[in-house]
Amino acid sequence: MKGDKSFTKTVIKSGSREFREWNPYRSKPAAAIVNGLKTFPLRKGMKILYLGISFGTTSSFFSDIIGKEGVIYGVEISERCMRDLNQVIGKRKNIVPILADARKPQDYAWIEPVDLVFQDVATNDQSEIIVRNAKQFLKKDGHAMIAIKARSIDVTKNPAIIYKQELEKLKASFRIMERVRLDPYEKDHLFAVMKLLAKR
Ligand SMILES: C[S@@+](CC[C@H](N)C(=O)[O-])C[C@H]1O[C@@H](n2cnc3c(N)ncnc32)[C@H](O)[C@@H]1O
Repeated sequence: MKGDKSFTKTVIKSGSREFREWNPYRSKPAAAIVNGLKTFPLRKGMKILYLGISFGTTSSFFSDIIGKEGVIYGVEISERCMRDLNQVIGKRKNIVPILADARKPQDYAWIEPVDLVFQDVATNDQSEIIVRNAKQFLKKDGHAMIAIKARSIDVTKNPAIIYKQELEKLKASFRIMERVRLDPYEKDHLFAVMKLLAKR
């Protein structure tokens, strides 16, 4: 969004356009791209369900990519984060904040079907949460993206074991298209891009 200098150190101008630098240390999809992710399905006009939107760092970049025709339904459980998010939303017209628990999609069942479910809640049941939400809201050809935080699932286990265990759970409902570790930008995180299996 033109004139927006939030969540970045550098704004590059090119003619009448402006580009905010997307810092991989502050945003997991940016870290995934820097670490070689090839499948990045965000497009202009997309509808996104964002679980764990927090105070809006990553969603501000998604908001720029999808543009005015797109919408982000941003679910967040913390009232404090919601208050900060509202500062970001004040300027942006394509983010709809939803104060809710992503474990209870029935509480926001009014949203429309989406092209992408993005999930970054950092809880020990994050795989179950994305499955439930994708089954309810994701369009047939849509994508799901998850940032798996090993330490939120079990601090005592080797992250590689956690990733394997979580990917096995996800494979019951999704085809895993690509996965990328986020170290050193986000320690002990795995980022995965997926599609729902035909049979749900
Ligand atoms: C790692 S932060 C997300 C950062 C954000 N994705 C970004 O890059 O800008 C995780 C967020 O998920 C939220 N969260 C945790 N459990 C949740 C739940 N069950 N439902 C909705 N939000 C949740 C937390 O309050 C926190 O704001």
